[in-house]
Amino acid sequence: MQIDVLTLFPQMFSGPLTESIVKRAVEKKKISVELINFRNFCYDKNKQVDDYPFGGSAGMVIKPEPLFEAIDYLKEKRKGIIKKREFPIIYLTPQGERYNQKIAQDLSKEDYIVLICGHYKDIDFRVREHLVNREISIGDYVLSGGELPAMILIDSIARLQEGVLTHCESAETDSFQNRLLDGPYYTRPAEYRGYKVPEVLLSGNHKKIAEWQRKKRIEFTKKLRGDLIDD
Ligand code: ADE
Repeated sequence: MQIDVLTLFPQMFSGPLTESIVKRAVEKKKISVELINFRNFCYDKNKQVDDYPFGGSAGMVIKPEPLFEAIDYLKEKRKGIIKKREFPIIYLTPQGERYNQKIAQDLSKEDYIVLICGHYKDIDFRVREHLVNREISIGDYVLSGGELPAMILIDSIARLQEGVLTHCESAETDSFQNRLLDGPYYTRPAEYRGYKVPEVLLSGNHKKIAEWQRKKRIEFTKKLRGDLIDD
């Protein structure tokens, strides 16, 4: 899967893309991430990406030109992998639909996606109206830009690619798979400071253990995230 990220701060991505499971996904060629600094698509002398908002308001707005130009460039560059007429061009914004595991699962099946990271006040609305076809928020709080949200999408998508997680790390039991939270885990020692691991986990009875684990998942979900069960 190809993920192209339009950002003014490509260096922010170096840590998350080069460690742990995302690194493995890249090494195994399950995902390929290209960071494109869209400042390079500003053709004025100073390569100025932003300007004052019409009508007056606080903050600066990213101009439409570099983003439209960058997408034109990508459409040409990726024409070999763009199979559908429309591929996801996603703008990360607190005004978008709230990100969740279902969206991660859907996106993980795409061959190609583009993530647009805004900065400053916003991007010109014409980009959102005429170029972007999906807007995603990672939660009801405001960050300085779309870079951290983009990294969150990339991580959650990378781990869902086939062959990235080992059997032990399997996403099957992750929280939110099947709309349930994950349950509790314990490791050695079986007793620590008088706190004991539940007996059933030491019993060796796989059927009983599976039943217990499922019961705990339901219990956790009801207690902590009743909304997942109700709707
Ligand atoms: N950009 C700034 N804040 C954001 C958020 N909460 N989600 C997605 N993109 C953002």
